[in-house]
Amino acid sequence: MATTTIPGYRYGQVDPSPVTETDLDLLKQTLLWTDDDTAALRRAGEILAGRVDDVLDLWYGYVGSHPHLVRYFNGADGEPDPAYLDAVRVRFGQWIRDLCTRPHDADWLAYQEEIARRHLHDKGRTDGIATTEPFVPLRYMIAFIWPITATIRDFLAAGTDDPDEVDAMHRAWFKAVTLSVVLWSRPYAPELW
Ligand code: HEM
Repeated sequence: MATTTIPGYRYGQVDPSPVTETDLDLLKQTLLWTDDDTAALRRAGEILAGRVDDVLDLWYGYVGSHPHLVRYFNGADGEPDPAYLDAVRVRFGQWIRDLCTRPHDADWLAYQEEIARRHLHDKGRTDGIATTEPFVPLRYMIAFIWPITATIRDFLAAGTDDPDEVDAMHRAWFKAVTLSVVLWSRPYAPELW
């Protein structure tokens, strides 16, 4: 799907992040990020491009089977809202593509801050949902790093016969998801960040 046709997807059109490119560089040094990670992530993006719906089916199955998680997609009636789940799903698919391919520049940083707001102060606003859950707790944001990482490995392995390449892509994916959640944690604890 062309990005311009994804409702609520506003990459390149949101306010700048308070996080500077210097802050980002130091974070990436902390995560032992290398050019090899950037290259491995690009390769992962090629492999995952044709499997985005399968990845999302798996992740939505995981969230849907845990009432303590799916409640964050509740509408005003306190039940999971299919329209909310569907709207987020399309942007989640775009996030997979963006994570693997977008350069780590000011636009990327700005959109990480926007995704953070959408889990926190602006939750439900993008899709006009009157959700009963005003924010996604930070503890679940952090804990999600593992399922989002563990479940991607089989998809990566299906795209190459080289086990070293699978390891490299999986490592880069793990670093990229961790980096994202670190950036998304900023508005949860702005004075401490
Ligand atoms: C590694 C952790 C996580 C990742 C990678 C992730 C990814 C995403 C992405 C890409 C979006 C759409 C952003 C956009 O609008 O462009 C989103 C939205 C959302 N996510 Fe997460 N998420 C994570 C943790 C969680 C957790 C733990 C929950 C709780 C079940 C959750 C619930 C939601 C909800 C409810 C929205 C919609 C927010 C809104 O109203 O705009 N997310 N997430």
